[in-house]
Amino acid sequence: MALIDGHGRKHDYLRISITDRCNLRCVYCMSEEGVEQTCHSSILSYEEILNVVSAGAELGISKIRITGGEPLVRKNVVELIKGLAAIPGINDLAMTTNGILLPRFAAELKEAGLDRVNISLDTLQTELFREITRCGELKYALEGIEAALENDLHPVKLNTVLMKGINDGEVLDFIRLVREKPLHVRFIEYMPIGDHDQAYKDHYLPLSFIEDTAQKAGLPLSPVPLLGGAGPAESYTIPDGLGTIGLIHPISKHFCDTCNRLRLTSEGNLKACLYWQDEKPVQPVLDDKQALQELIKEVLSNKPVEHQMAADGKCGIVKSGSMRRMSQTGG
Ligand code: 5AD
Ligand code: SF4
Repeated sequence: MALIDGHGRKHDYLRISITDRCNLRCVYCMSEEGVEQTCHSSILSYEEILNVVSAGAELGISKIRITGGEPLVRKNVVELIKGLAAIPGINDLAMTTNGILLPRFAAELKEAGLDRVNISLDTLQTELFREITRCGELKYALEGIEAALENDLHPVKLNTVLMKGINDGEVLDFIRLVREKPLHVRFIEYMPIGDHDQAYKDHYLPLSFIEDTAQKAGLPLSPVPLLGGAGPAESYTIPDGLGTIGLIHPISKHFCDTCNRLRLTSEGNLKACLYWQDEKPVQPVLDDKQALQELIKEVLSNKPVEHQMAADGKCGIVKSGSMRRMSQTGG
């Protein structure tokens, strides 16, 4: 069984946001007060999430990513991982986390069946980490990364949003980090998501900046075949590096033509594209597997061909899509 959309793209990947809450407040993701939180009764229960995944797995979904907000702030997340790992057909189970709670949970998550993690880390400087996250301690995020390595949540990937005037001076520090540790740093272009148009205009920098900076420093990036679950990242090695550098360009070279993902928001809306507003609630069909499968196919058949972020190709936004913040959709 394969899920093919109206543009011939095969879909085998579902990203599930299990909460819009977070223990940090990253500037590009949330406002200072945090997002208006969805009340607990309107978020999908774990049982409901497992129903959606079971229905999707029969249609060809084989990869799951748990996201947030911060997924590790939701209670009993280990139980959800166990349930997901037991669903026939699910053979890649990953999580995106800020890493702060990984020292506490990494071993249990691995044991429950989590294959790997992506950890968001935009800076290696204590003070700047506090500014970007508005409250976080770098030390705890670094301990989380160590916990992921120690517990074999491989490949351990770091998501680093490149921001002009904020962390663009640290490119070489990140390159040195992957030289010393088996970590895979993926630089991501800043996206105008939610109501962040001005910040995007101020801080967007195309990822050609990374290649230029590495080249100038005598550490040229060499392309490597795709890493497990590499998705849209182009991966590169550096001389004598234990890890790799990945470049994810949602803006300057968007990868919509190979998009294989569907999303489920924490309140239970299925979305075919991170950008557009279109979404359909799963609640009315949660107890009817066939209707759930029809809904998945319907959402997919209406998937747009591409997003329109930064649609004029420069920094001005001519069109706005969903006003949801990243924490509400799941990165
Ligand atoms: N642009 C690019 N990446 C973003 N993320 C969150 N908001 C943005 C944005 N506006 C990334 C974070 C995190 C993941 C969930 O999404 O780095 O790793
Ligand atoms: Fe939390 Fe992740 Fe958003 Fe930062 S990017 S505030 S860690 S959900």
